[in-house]
Amino acid sequence: MNLEDLDRAHLIHPITEFRSHEKKGPKIVVGGSGIRIRLADGRTLIDGLSGLWNMNVGHGRTEIGDAVAKQMSQVAYYPGFWDYATEPAIRLAERLAKRMPAGSELDHFLFTSGGSDANETNFRIARLFHAVRGEPGRRKILSRAHSYHGITRAAGSATRLPAYHIFEEPDPLHIQVPAPYCFRCELGKEFPGCEIACADAIEETIEREGAETVAAIIAEPVMGTGGVIPPADDYFPRLREICDRHGILLILDEVITGFGRTGNWFGMEPFSAKPDLVSFAKGITSGYLPLGAAGITSRVYETLRDESPKGLPFMVGLTYNNHAACCAAAHANLDILEREGLVENSADVGAYLLGRLRDTLGTHPLVGEIRGIGMFTAIEWARPGTKEPAGETPMAFPAAVASRAMEKGLIVRALWECTAISPPLCTTREEIDEIIDILVASVDEASP
Ligand SMILES: Cc1ncc(COP(=O)(O)O)c(C=O)c1O
Repeated sequence: MNLEDLDRAHLIHPITEFRSHEKKGPKIVVGGSGIRIRLADGRTLIDGLSGLWNMNVGHGRTEIGDAVAKQMSQVAYYPGFWDYATEPAIRLAERLAKRMPAGSELDHFLFTSGGSDANETNFRIARLFHAVRGEPGRRKILSRAHSYHGITRAAGSATRLPAYHIFEEPDPLHIQVPAPYCFRCELGKEFPGCEIACADAIEETIEREGAETVAAIIAEPVMGTGGVIPPADDYFPRLREICDRHGILLILDEVITGFGRTGNWFGMEPFSAKPDLVSFAKGITSGYLPLGAAGITSRVYETLRDESPKGLPFMVGLTYNNHAACCAAAHANLDILEREGLVENSADVGAYLLGRLRDTLGTHPLVGEIRGIGMFTAIEWARPGTKEPAGETPMAFPAAVASRAMEKGLIVRALWECTAISPPLCTTREEIDEIIDILVASVDEASP
């Protein structure tokens, strides 16, 4: 059998309809360099989504492979359980602690395999924190409509996109609260007259549920999979106040926003968010190997250290926590981000991307909103003067744009009624021009 048929016969693809996949067959990726990937059929595509918002340094960075090979030739892996450690894991924890914004107090890190398990770990830590302080009843986790926090059981329950819950209700310990999604405000308000009523609504939920039952709220600095939705400037400071008033921990899900995506090292910076716990993944290795991280403040760490019953170990542990080779990949990736100034490039070229999207498509009749920060942008489509889907059926128009773009050599992601455009942080202005030309032609073709 050829590779295509072997794929059809045996490989399961996430977020892919089996029926149509068997008809279309796989797109087999054989290489990549910079912002482009190469397919087995000879086509080259611009990776306008950086893989899954994770390939921040772009493709073909052999130095990451070299660093991993070197580490593997020494020690590839040993469990991080029971006081064991490897140098790359220790040094990565220190490196992250130094990288955290001044005053964040985030100074202890546990490395996971990805974003879902970083969030799951933080839920456990939040409940543990309250339990050892004598409040074991604080077990509920709040998360916001339109948020994505992963797909494992608890992270998946915090994910608040209905498509992920078709056959599985969220766990009842997870409670949904409104999102700071001005374009589709579920409270029917307009910013700034609303005075950020979506944050007040969170406080109302806390009071209704009983603060003594709530452990934490989890929030992405900019909601990604929900449609690239940045909050108002005052939102996170307000959320911090609410958390403090009710003794609730704030978990910041920086899985996409961490490591330069917003033009800042971390999404907590531009939005003045001050979390108690933070989740990283994706850009920490730019996807070269799987890695995530759960980070906690000194207050949370010291509480667990000092208040846990004597002799009780920290009952969190995944086989691949603190994986040596994956931590080595993270170091090499961070070296590239630092050496090439890619976070600054994300701010600079990202602003250019947003400006060009607005210049070229801002007056298109089906554009509802163009938004973003850094190399993290989206166009939200709607029928003129409404918030109704731009296409004949929900999600049809963004899907048509994405498939036209793919035919022309550009990958963008159709997300609900949005098109997400987020190329690697190394993208140049000339490459943005190329992306814009293809996108505008694709939108023209897809438009009625
Ligand atoms: C904000 C956010 N959190 C968590 C996750 C889950 O990460 P993973 O797919 O590595 O489990 C994702 C993945 O897209 C994400 O975007």
